[in-house]
Amino acid sequence: MRQDVIDRAYALLGQRRPDWSLDQPFYVDRDLFEMEMDLFFNRQWLFAAMSCEVPEIGDWLRVDIGRESVILLRDKAGAIRAFHNTCRHRGSRICTTEKGHANRLVCPYHQWSYELDGSLARTRLMGPDFDRQDFGLVPVSVGIAAGFIFINFSADASGFEAFRSEVEPYLLPHGLEDAKVVHTQTLVEQANWKLVIENNRECYHCAGSHPELMHIITEFDDPDDPNIKPEYKALIARKAADWDRLGLPHAHTHGSDRYRAVRLPFTGGMHSMTMDGKPASRKLLGTLSDTDLGSVRFLNLPNSWNHVLADHAIVFRVLPISAEETLVTTKWLVHKDARENEDYDLQRLTEVWAATNDQDRILAETNQLGIRGSGYRSGPYSEAIEAGTRDFIRWYSREMMATLAPLAHSKTSPQENAA
Ligand code: FES
Ligand SMILES: [Fe+2]
Repeated sequence: MRQDVIDRAYALLGQRRPDWSLDQPFYVDRDLFEMEMDLFFNRQWLFAAMSCEVPEIGDWLRVDIGRESVILLRDKAGAIRAFHNTCRHRGSRICTTEKGHANRLVCPYHQWSYELDGSLARTRLMGPDFDRQDFGLVPVSVGIAAGFIFINFSADASGFEAFRSEVEPYLLPHGLEDAKVVHTQTLVEQANWKLVIENNRECYHCAGSHPELMHIITEFDDPDDPNIKPEYKALIARKAADWDRLGLPHAHTHGSDRYRAVRLPFTGGMHSMTMDGKPASRKLLGTLSDTDLGSVRFLNLPNSWNHVLADHAIVFRVLPISAEETLVTTKWLVHKDARENEDYDLQRLTEVWAATNDQDRILAETNQLGIRGSGYRSGPYSEAIEAGTRDFIRWYSREMMATLAPLAHSKTSPQENAA
């Protein structure tokens, strides 16, 4: 890890104007990006996939994050595990396609094979002194919350239980373990991952860019936001009473500024994120029977936001590729027994967010292009409508400063470092 990169990032964060956008290097600099991945991003709980994507023993899928690659699989006991996708022989990637099914994982280079618990099963010609026990796959920490699989690269990953216990009550009634992914949209956006998240955390841009989304969603997602209109506040209160009767949690979580869950109603008599506001799937998620359950908005910094409705769910995953390139994957889920063209129509199900994501891609990429120029200066977030973005950058800056503080060169002040 380069000391000058750590010192420079620490200095820039130390002297930045609070609640303004970050300095240019945080969006474009390759060295800073590598440092950020190793010391910060990959030490967070990252949304990787849904458990229903590996429903059977031996099902696996690959998740790439920056230069890391991880195999997620369901083992013989039915548990979900994660391993670095790197062979213990000479380091080849083992899984080279996106997903598959196997009783054992076999490295394509010299065919070392691994059990589903990561232990080395077979090798050829390694001699009498070779002890297979020393060569199991390197594990990655896994946490599961209501069908969402999270991974963490830190050896001492912690904090998952508090997170899980706070968000699961919002999500469990929607039965996402018994759902299926029926459509995936993959966008490689030419933008830094933080710009993708910054864009998602505000709806300042929505009125100008999202005609499909704007007839469904409101710009404000905190029921306590002083900018919420009185009519919407009244609707929230009415629906809150209904949801209390159904035993569905709805109030904004307060356990952390890294994540949150909140259930909010749709306006205009709409029940779902479709063009006409009617449910996209006749078969509802889990064992739900009421279509008017609004949307559970589930945020997990640094890499995911999600909408979980009565009839379907849309999950969003943001994975950095490089300083100026980010993979944004959106998946649409319905009940596992829902039948295409009978219970749901793929076009109706996906059109609002497919269009919205592409509009957001253009916004993030255009933002990136502007930041690249030498005329870029940090700018202020709107107190009234960019609080989500402000809070993300506050969280990011605070966490990065805490990470870098023990590593930064102690003898120089931030100003000297920046010079
Ligand atoms: S590198 Fe995997 S078997 Fe040789
Ligand atoms: Fe947007």
